[in-house]
Amino acid sequence: MSQRSPVEPLRWTAGTLHLLDQRRLPHEVTYVACHSAHEVASAIQEMVVRGAPAIGIAAAFGMAMTVASGEDLSRAAEELRSARPTAVNLMWAVDRMLAANAAGDDLAVTAQQMFDADVAANRRIGRYGAELLGERATVLTHCNAGALATAGYGTALGVIRAAVESGRSIAVFADETRPYLQGARLTTWELQQDGIDVTLITDNMAGHFFQQGKFDAVIVGADRIAANGDTANKIGTYTVAVLANAHGVPFYVAAPISTIDVATPDGTAIPIEERSAKEVTEIQGVRVAPEGIAVRHPAFDVTPARLITAIVTDRGVLRPPFGESIARAVADTSGPGE
Ligand code: MRU
Repeated sequence: MSQRSPVEPLRWTAGTLHLLDQRRLPHEVTYVACHSAHEVASAIQEMVVRGAPAIGIAAAFGMAMTVASGEDLSRAAEELRSARPTAVNLMWAVDRMLAANAAGDDLAVTAQQMFDADVAANRRIGRYGAELLGERATVLTHCNAGALATAGYGTALGVIRAAVESGRSIAVFADETRPYLQGARLTTWELQQDGIDVTLITDNMAGHFFQQGKFDAVIVGADRIAANGDTANKIGTYTVAVLANAHGVPFYVAAPISTIDVATPDGTAIPIEERSAKEVTEIQGVRVAPEGIAVRHPAFDVTPARLITAIVTDRGVLRPPFGESIARAVADTSGPGE
């Protein structure tokens, strides 16, 4: 397996942000060029770029382009912040760029530093997380928390990559992740690029495989981790956590410190994005439900902290009680993760 994942969700060249169009994967590898914060915000809303850390970094470059073109930075900040409500990395990145601007820093340089820091954080998460897996393990993951969802390397899939790089024999099961199919389209494609053993299942097969003792661990990413450890992630994650708990399988969340939001006391305060009904009534543009049917589409759910075995961060592995371990990790600004 290559040391550096070839999957590049964001490229910054000559003042333009090129985003790998994740709507077209796995069939086509094409990039969308963004020249302004407005174009970046649209790309985030339309899922050209997705995944909490990746949308944060994309927004940072959007802010850099705003300053370069002399447009209104606070308006750009508002538009980017409101592109998607659940992933706190987006708000974190916008706030950091506003602070950098107030300090007189070059925003393009700051955005590039955030990009590099995200890849470095993911590599640390990978190293810490790999230690939690045995020499041989079959791991279930949900959605895509990989290189595609970050500046590179991935969080949950970074743990898998690091485990494989360290010589462990790892097999991955990927939930397809209805309705947007991040698992079927993205996780399978991304792991295939690196030659990692991956098997695709539909979401409703997970219980069957838990019952058969197939899984040694579950690893997922996060969009926002509250101060008490409650974790918002892709819709369906909570179901997997309940199954893992019922079958005595460890359930790990992998995320950088920037995904922790200590201003949110618990999961009830995390805003949950509701997306278009079309993403439920249609599969890849083909209608599967009757016209006029009532639909709900929460894009995320909250896994309560009591179902989480550990949170793997770039500052180490956090264990329950999460209220305390999170407060310590967030306060520890001496090491990496800032
Ligand atoms: O709607 P998406 O595809 O942006 O949702 C992404 C997820 O839920 C990921 O698991 C999460 O953002 C972590 S990515 C490292």
